[in-house]
Amino acid sequence: MQELPIAVTKSKSVPVHIISDVKDLSAEQKVWAKTNGFKAQTGSVLLFANIKGGLERVFFGKSNQPLDTGKLASTLPAGNYHFEGEMDDAHLSSLGWMLGAYRFSKYNNKKDQDAKLVLPEGVDAQDLIREVEASYLARDLINTPANDMGPDALEKTIRTIARKFKAQVSVIKGDALLKKNFPMIHAVGRASVDAPRLIDLKWGNAKHPKVTLVGKGVIFDSGGLNIKPGNSMALMKKDMGGAANTIALARMIMDAKLPVRLRLLVPAVENAISGNAFRPGDILPSRKGISVEIGNTDAEGRLILGDALALGDEEKPDLMIDMATLTGAARVALGPDLPPFYTDDEELAQAVSQTSMDVFDPLWQMPLWDPYQKMLSSKVADVNHISTGGFAGSITAALFLSRFVENAKSWAHFDIYGWTPTAKPWMPVGGEAQGIRTLFEVIKNKYWI
Ligand code: BES
Ligand code: MN
Ligand code: ZN
Repeated sequence: MQELPIAVTKSKSVPVHIISDVKDLSAEQKVWAKTNGFKAQTGSVLLFANIKGGLERVFFGKSNQPLDTGKLASTLPAGNYHFEGEMDDAHLSSLGWMLGAYRFSKYNNKKDQDAKLVLPEGVDAQDLIREVEASYLARDLINTPANDMGPDALEKTIRTIARKFKAQVSVIKGDALLKKNFPMIHAVGRASVDAPRLIDLKWGNAKHPKVTLVGKGVIFDSGGLNIKPGNSMALMKKDMGGAANTIALARMIMDAKLPVRLRLLVPAVENAISGNAFRPGDILPSRKGISVEIGNTDAEGRLILGDALALGDEEKPDLMIDMATLTGAARVALGPDLPPFYTDDEELAQAVSQTSMDVFDPLWQMPLWDPYQKMLSSKVADVNHISTGGFAGSITAALFLSRFVENAKSWAHFDIYGWTPTAKPWMPVGGEAQGIRTLFEVIKNKYWI
């Protein structure tokens, strides 16, 4: 992971002023602003030199998106900086800087950005670092291509994090999935040379409330026999985005020592094509006991999640959360930057919606619309895993998952995109953490006493 651009000393650091107009600038600064056409427009940057030609200060046009400060991290020359003057939200402005500085340079050794920020007073460094490291981790995992991030590498990643926080990991792999009754995880992953597996991490005091996270770990989604066309397959290294995000969220929870008994379940598979691949028309048994008709092998995520959710549900967790790059339909509905979530727990929904806006990690509730359960009916099995007609694709996927959750006190499903297709100041193009800062706050506020 890249080093965080945090400067340790304020001496010789350059002040950055967040301003909404130029009226308080000195006479020379006003002339310079005019020369440059700088009117403190949202997100604009003006560098002001001293008499010797060095950088004296920076002006930044105030934005109602506090994370826009990411632009400073990616455009300012190397050096140390600090914010000066009034700020609406020192924490989010610092977070934006850190998130905007992210680069995925594992494969090209491009140097890290080194416009470093002295953290403003009142910003809790630990809280900030926890969020930034989690985002960097999720991005790194998603950006790492499938040739280096298969089921085995995903398992190793989880084991490494578990060691750091003294968590227990157990893994059920290959044919053992059949013996231990995870038929759908096995069916989806068996065509790959890198064996399918269910990774199960446990951490914390057994007496604390049980929080279970489940992340879709399809390390590459070719579509299976219902093969995806080239342009739809191109980005499918990101199909473990749910796993990446739940791993990052688990790391935050353990790092903050939240008083929960945490469980992280990651079904890790490759949806590959081979003579032994599962097929459209197959009818699969499932851990839950219901038979599932396969309508399309490209709807693989909900199958592996079904078995993982069924396991999580067996110990009646207080809260179960799953995250998955589950449907293209979610993007059609809400676009890449606003993941939908689903839950029947209205109190949880309220907390998630409100918190997501407060922390600028947006999420949008969509309905578990019961009448659409009918769209999943099958003539030959208990359920079909895809809807007939192709309507409401994200909702019907969520409804399919709901069939595997019965005992959890509260359950929420997040249909994330896990990717930034168009760069924003705090998000370079590539893998993205979505929903985890919100969920961390929600879990912390519910259980931290
Ligand atoms: N991983 C994809 C969903 C996806 C595609 C997410 C593109 C983000 C971007 C998933 O496994 C999938 O292929 N879903 C199908 C389901 C369909 C066959 C019912 C989809 O959404 O097209
Ligand atoms: Mn698919
Ligand atoms: Zn998929």
